[in-house]
Amino acid sequence: MSSARLTYDGKEYDLALIEGTEGEVGIDVQALRKVTSGAITYDPGYGNTGSCSSAITFIDGEEGILRYRGHSIEQLAERTRFIEVCYLLIYGNLPTEDQLQRFGEQVTRHTLIHEDMKKFFEGYPQTAHPMAILSSMVSSLSAYYPVGEDEEGMDLNIVRLLAKAKTIAAFSHKKSMGQPVVYPRNDLSYTQNFLHMMFALPVEPYEVSPVVDEALNMLLILHADHEQNCSTATVRMVGSSAANLFVSISAGINALWGPLHGGANQAVIEMLEHIRRDGGDYKKYVDKAKDKADPFRLMGFGHRVYKNYDPRAKLLKGAADGVLSELGVSDPLLDIARELERIALEDEYFVERNLYPNVDFYSGIIYRAMGIPTEMFTVMFALGRLPGWIAHWKEMRADATTRIHRPRQIYTGENVREVLPVSER
Ligand code: ACO
Repeated sequence: MSSARLTYDGKEYDLALIEGTEGEVGIDVQALRKVTSGAITYDPGYGNTGSCSSAITFIDGEEGILRYRGHSIEQLAERTRFIEVCYLLIYGNLPTEDQLQRFGEQVTRHTLIHEDMKKFFEGYPQTAHPMAILSSMVSSLSAYYPVGEDEEGMDLNIVRLLAKAKTIAAFSHKKSMGQPVVYPRNDLSYTQNFLHMMFALPVEPYEVSPVVDEALNMLLILHADHEQNCSTATVRMVGSSAANLFVSISAGINALWGPLHGGANQAVIEMLEHIRRDGGDYKKYVDKAKDKADPFRLMGFGHRVYKNYDPRAKLLKGAADGVLSELGVSDPLLDIARELERIALEDEYFVERNLYPNVDFYSGIIYRAMGIPTEMFTVMFALGRLPGWIAHWKEMRADATTRIHRPRQIYTGENVREVLPVSER
């Protein structure tokens, strides 16, 4: 089969097929509008639209498979450090020892932010959501660093962004606590440095717990990429206008913030807390989620792509027990989450719609055990997703066939009409 045949207005059109390395098939509709004199494909929410071809991440939502550059998420989570996964996503292969040493050192050396940018934090109210700070600050990096995008300049900005985003994230947490910011330390790894900037105080050193460090490493890896999701598609959309790396990623951060996307991790904990305060009646909340007249949804459940258990949620569910017990934390929200999941997965409504826990369902419980406040959860997701966004932006830029992203629409408004003087309207 080399083409698909479409019958439209009594005529037949052959549309070329495009096939991926895992056998997925796309029908190339680029010529459709031209050959049919104006008909477009219609797919609100892009549920079935391939907006690009990409060699970064493969997902089989039916089978619950996720691979970065061909490596399974399970092996990456078990065997690598986040900095290696950053390199893998952005440059295509896991780094050799030399490459890792050079890349890690560069990211470490660029962790400081410009001293003038530190003053920005003073301007935000203490209640500012850290996602608002993160997106504005990442956008502001383009005011401090040249955005000329030859290969060398691009690589340097990639390193800067990876290095500085975690400093900005930790400083925004310090701001919310009313504490002085803590500078990074060049002797620490990526994850240790972040934890140090989050939790150290000038009056008290902070010893990074290996359990917390390992948990953070795994969480960041699990969030690192997920092909054309809402925020990554946003990064590509903005970047397709030739906008620079920093502002394109800042747009992705804003897209991630929404509770239907990355903001769900905060919303899950708020939901579990609400259920606990309400006496722990799980059934009531499962019923509310099923009631079409009630806007309530089970946060952390459902996914556009996974029609099977999200492999990231599986890993996190397994890790939650271990991390909490190693840290000696007991959290009633974990019990509520497990019960809620059990009841939902037995319920016909959830079974019929293939609604399973997604990555956000258990991640918040681990973040809580690590001492990370709820408002920071989506920032944590953004730090993890950063290499994915960067990889997609870079891939799009390198692709000579990239065109500015510009969907079409079906217009449903008024037909042409006269502008009447105000007294006659
Ligand atoms: N609770 C109750 N019902 C749900 C839920 C949920 N969490 N999710 C989907 N459904 C139902 C819908 O009402 C719909 O039912 P219907 O067919 O009877 O109308 C059906 O399942 C399909 O749902 P859609 O909204 O059409 O699925 P879509 O692919 O557009 O949305 C989304 C996916 C946004 C993730 C959705 O499942 C949701 O809102 N989940 C809760 C928020 C969440 O956890 N988001 C994080 C996603 S993971 C991530 O972004 C990192």
